[in-house]
Amino acid sequence: MVPVAPYNREAREAVRRTWGSERQVLGREVRLFFLLGLPSGEETEQLQEKVLQESKEHQDLLQSDFIDSYKNLTIKTMVMMEWLSSRCPNASYAMKIDSDMFLNVNTLVNMLLHAPTQNYMTGLVARWGAVLRDRNSKWYLPKEVFPEPVYPPYALGLGYVFTLDLPRKLVEASRHVKAVYIEDVYLGLCMRHLGIRPTDPPSGNLFQGYAGAQDRCHYMAVITTILDTPQELLDIWRNLHQPGPVCY
Ligand SMILES: *[C@@H]1O[C@H](CO)[C@@H](O)[C@H](O)[C@H]1NC(C)=O
Ligand SMILES: *[C@@H]1O[C@H](CO)[C@@H](O)[C@H](O)[C@H]1NC(C)=O
Repeated sequence: MVPVAPYNREAREAVRRTWGSERQVLGREVRLFFLLGLPSGEETEQLQEKVLQESKEHQDLLQSDFIDSYKNLTIKTMVMMEWLSSRCPNASYAMKIDSDMFLNVNTLVNMLLHAPTQNYMTGLVARWGAVLRDRNSKWYLPKEVFPEPVYPPYALGLGYVFTLDLPRKLVEASRHVKAVYIEDVYLGLCMRHLGIRPTDPPSGNLFQGYAGAQDRCHYMAVITTILDTPQELLDIWRNLHQPGPVCY
């Protein structure tokens, strides 16, 4: 499940041509969906027309009727949770991953083949994350909105994985937990309400944020890495699928 702004077709195309194209991995079925809100600002109608066209072409867009903006990402995540709980009765796991990420689906599925099957969420788990009180911060939260000094443990939004029993429980919890716009923190709050802790991945290096320039063996071993551009993703993918040195 990839949240992405309506205008950002370039990122969607890069994902479709790389890790998003994988359908059968280690004998398991994998599906890709993009999560969109409504375009806003200038040329809204033209953009919406293009989105509908793209949807016809690829059949992988989920669009909901809220305005797509950074401050609405929690809405997007909860729309995703509702959709998963009502439309994916047969799926075992879901991953939410940002569109600027490299994803190794093989490593991901391999981890999940040995993972818990209930009440499970993993990724890069933040603990004792300080609540930022600086008004200029992208993640500013005033005391009136969230009085506690630190957040409960939560899996960073760049890429987290969870069992498919959780969406319904998280949607239910969200009726009792006051919304904050930081979507990963909000899921952490809902998880705390449920009494479920996010779990560290079985190996410390699987989920990575910025890793800088890396060789192909890095991308063979990890699950995620943040990238700078869609072109970088295309380049890494091409390199990975060429013959090259063996990795240990
Ligand atoms: C979404 O975000 C925009 C601007 O950030 C805001 O005006 C709007 O009310 C928000 N909510 C919904 C449901 O669209
Ligand atoms: C779930 O699996 C059952 C049994 O295999 C199948 O009949 C049904 O169509 C599946 N549902 C969806 C939404 O894929």
